Amino acid sequence: MGKMWHSILVVFGVLSVGNAITINVSQNGGNKTSPLQYGLMFEDINHGGDGGLYAELVRNRAFQGSTVYPANLDGYEPVNGAILALQNLSKPLSPSMPSSLNVAKGSNNNNNHGLIGFANEGWWGIEVKPQKYAGSFCVQGAYEGDFDVSLQSKITQEVFATAKVKSSGAQHKDWIQYKYELLPKKSASNTNNTLTITFDSKGLKDGSLNFNLISLFPPTYNNRPNGLRIDLVEAMAELEGKFLRFPGGSDVEGVQAPYWYKWNETVGDLKDRYSRPSAWTYEESNGIGLIEYMNWCDDMGLEPILAVWDGHYLSNEVISESDLQPYIDDTLNQLEFLMGGPDTPYGSWRASLGYPKPWQINYVEIGNEDNLYGGLETYIAYRFQAYYDAITAKYPHMTVMESLTGMPGPAAAASDYHQYSTPDGFVSQFNYFDQMPVTNRTLNGEVATVYPNNPSNSVAWGSPFPLYPWWIGSVAEAVFLLGEERNSPKIIGASYAPMFRNINNWQWSPTLIAFDADSSHTSRSTSWHVIKLLSTNKITQNLPTTWSGGDIGPLYWVAGRNDNTGSNIFKAAVYNSTSDVPVTVNFAGCNAKIANLTILSSDDPNASNYPGGPEVVKTEIQSVTANAQGAFEFSLPNLSVAVLKT
Ligand SMILES: *[C@@H]1O[C@H](CO)[C@@H](O)[C@H](O)[C@H]1NC(C)=O
Ligand SMILES: *[C@@H]1O[C@H](CO)[C@@H](O)[C@H](O)[C@H]1NC(C)=O
Ligand SMILES: *[C@@H]1O[C@H](CO)[C@@H](O)[C@H](O)[C@H]1NC(C)=O
Ligand SMILES: *[C@@H]1O[C@H](CO)[C@@H](O)[C@H](O)[C@H]1NC(C)=O
Ligand SMILES: *[C@@H]1O[C@H](CO)[C@@H](O)[C@H](O)[C@H]1NC(C)=O
Ligand SMILES: *[C@@H]1O[C@H](CO)[C@@H](O)[C@H](O)[C@H]1NC(C)=O
Ligand SMILES: *[C@@H]1O[C@H](CO)[C@@H](O)[C@H](O)[C@H]1NC(C)=O
Ligand SMILES: *[C@@H]1O[C@H](CO)[C@@H](O)[C@H](O)[C@H]1NC(C)=O
Ligand SMILES: *[C@@H]1O[C@H](CO)[C@@H](O)[C@H](O)[C@H]1NC(C)=O
Ligand SMILES: *[C@@H]1O[C@H](CO)[C@@H](O)[C@H](O)[C@H]1NC(C)=O
Repeated sequence: MGKMWHSILVVFGVLSVGNAITINVSQNGGNKTSPLQYGLMFEDINHGGDGGLYAELVRNRAFQGSTVYPANLDGYEPVNGAILALQNLSKPLSPSMPSSLNVAKGSNNNNNHGLIGFANEGWWGIEVKPQKYAGSFCVQGAYEGDFDVSLQSKITQEVFATAKVKSSGAQHKDWIQYKYELLPKKSASNTNNTLTITFDSKGLKDGSLNFNLISLFPPTYNNRPNGLRIDLVEAMAELEGKFLRFPGGSDVEGVQAPYWYKWNETVGDLKDRYSRPSAWTYEESNGIGLIEYMNWCDDMGLEPILAVWDGHYLSNEVISESDLQPYIDDTLNQLEFLMGGPDTPYGSWRASLGYPKPWQINYVEIGNEDNLYGGLETYIAYRFQAYYDAITAKYPHMTVMESLTGMPGPAAAASDYHQYSTPDGFVSQFNYFDQMPVTNRTLNGEVATVYPNNPSNSVAWGSPFPLYPWWIGSVAEAVFLLGEERNSPKIIGASYAPMFRNINNWQWSPTLIAFDADSSHTSRSTSWHVIKLLSTNKITQNLPTTWSGGDIGPLYWVAGRNDNTGSNIFKAAVYNSTSDVPVTVNFAGCNAKIANLTILSSDDPNASNYPGGPEVVKTEIQSVTANAQGAFEFSLPNLSVAVLKT
């Protein structure tokens, strides 16, 4: 009946105002919501880690490689005709950094001072601002003289900052680490800059020097050494997310044996960290290692959702049941490293790294998307259960999650539902969680519209996705997220994925945030705006509603209150309406006379935010006065997302 009425409206198209909906929000009877609700999902994809959130400015700082992505000299160029070569010395800087950069005098090196060296172009640029940069580099070889370190323009060679570092004498065998600081007096007009290190070839004893672990950091978030890029953290922090799922995603699985995620190789001094071929076409440095993740959670007040490796690679390789135990033990060691007292073997290692106080882990996810790449059969047969049993035996308080949904597993296990869909696909799943039994709990660890509407309403995997979230898709995500909010407490929380994309080198679009080396380009997507509105207007107790005036859709909503602030809250999205939708909301037992209404909309349903582009999301804030009956009346346009709050 409702459907027929809608189609009549479409056919004649005469009404400019749709069905008025009157919604009564009960005072009692709802459910407490999950404390997490909205959060963040992170893995190193799209150079969102190395070359993105990880503030290191030098690309390929330690020449680390693997059989998948061999060591190379990407990012480097010779200065003054120097000859650059990758070499494995008999005495490398460390076992995890076997290759280094040899810099030798070239035959055409005839400049007066004999200065030679190399330049690193950063992650497709280096931002230069008047602020303190802290750097270091390691050298092996015999040299008497200075090193000149500078930040300079690649286009004009203008030098923005320079430091002289004296060599500590004629060393032969040992690697020596030098530290330096750079303090530009002004900003460079663009990011086409390099870090350049030169030295006087006349002071060489053996004709060349070896370099490794060449590093430069701008100021970082919370001034953490080895820390995170401030503007990208700020873009995340504004969302007020409550959890962080890490370190993947596909990246926790690994491309092929033996490259599983070895947490123990991501902690400690940088020179002891191993690199790893990521799932995303490049070698990752593990500069953001387990401890950096935990500091990140602490600094932003995020609940860690720790994904652990579970015996399955993206190459379809699976560890057999009889060989699995060492890997399960490794996960228990990891949990002890994080949570154990300083008197436990792994807790004492953590303490020795400067972190005596144990962290608390409440959520562990076993693997990632084990329904894919030949993982499902063994996941069901033995892998999940083995990890589940081992973890819950030692840590009964933990929520242990399956990396998929709908699997027959232990009743207490939670699941992780990933959804990449079309706008219509998300809207049609508004009711998805209504069907889910109350005993099931799920995370929605990856949510994103990746494909335009089409007749079969399906995602064409393998064909290019849009570069940026676009408005109609972001509204559709809002509809889906409202469906989740209505179903708290079945839902642990939701996060968009992927979070970051460096637009100069990437594997997957669209993403929540796009960026390049220039922090003024960092772009908050249309989906970012939607999530921010929903996340920062937190409902702690959802409330049942009754309504008259039409079916759910084109208006979708959830109602509740925030018991910390006393606000009544109504969140809504409009999708597929031919006209504005008049809404009346009546909060039972609410005496407030005024409510704030925030409406997000856009002039163009296909519009995207992108680096350097205009803001396409319009934010309108209205003050709505209660009518004589105490209800709030307003109207919402097609393709809008709104929050009414007393
Ligand atoms: C240097 O060491 C790496 C890592 O062990 C190895 O893959 C590479 O083949 C070596 N290169 C040379 C030139 O020996
Ligand atoms: C940076 O400058 C160099 C030298 O002028 C030029 O070749 C290169 O294309 C520039 N890169 C970018 C990203 O503008
Ligand atoms: C890290 O732990 C794994 C599993 O226990 C082990 O195979 C690997 O050798 C360790 N890495 C180092 C550098 O000790
Ligand atoms: C709920 O969990 C059960 C197993 O406990 C599973 O069989 C079912 O498919 C789950 N339902 C959904 C919608 O995830
Ligand atoms: C939106 O409207 C279009 C065109 O009428 C229809 O094909 C589509 O199924 C609708 N989507 C939803 C989620 O209702
Ligand atoms: C609260 O949860 C119960 C199941 O425990 C469910 O039947 C009810 O619809 C939920 N109420 C709201 C307002 O979501
Ligand atoms: C909403 O509440 C009013 C009284 O406050 C009542 O008259 C009306 O019937 C209710 N409507 C619905 C759909 O529950
Ligand atoms: C309303 O929104 C739908 C998508 O939900 C869009 O396809 C349609 O063009 C919009 N209609 C109007 C009249 O703006
Ligand atoms: C939006 O893009 C879709 C294809 O992705 C196209 O069919 C539609 O016409 C576009 N709408 C507008 C208003 O440009
Ligand atoms: C409504 O907005 C005004 C202006 O931004 C603000 O001062 C007030 O606190 C808001 N009220 C509520 C209930 O959020």
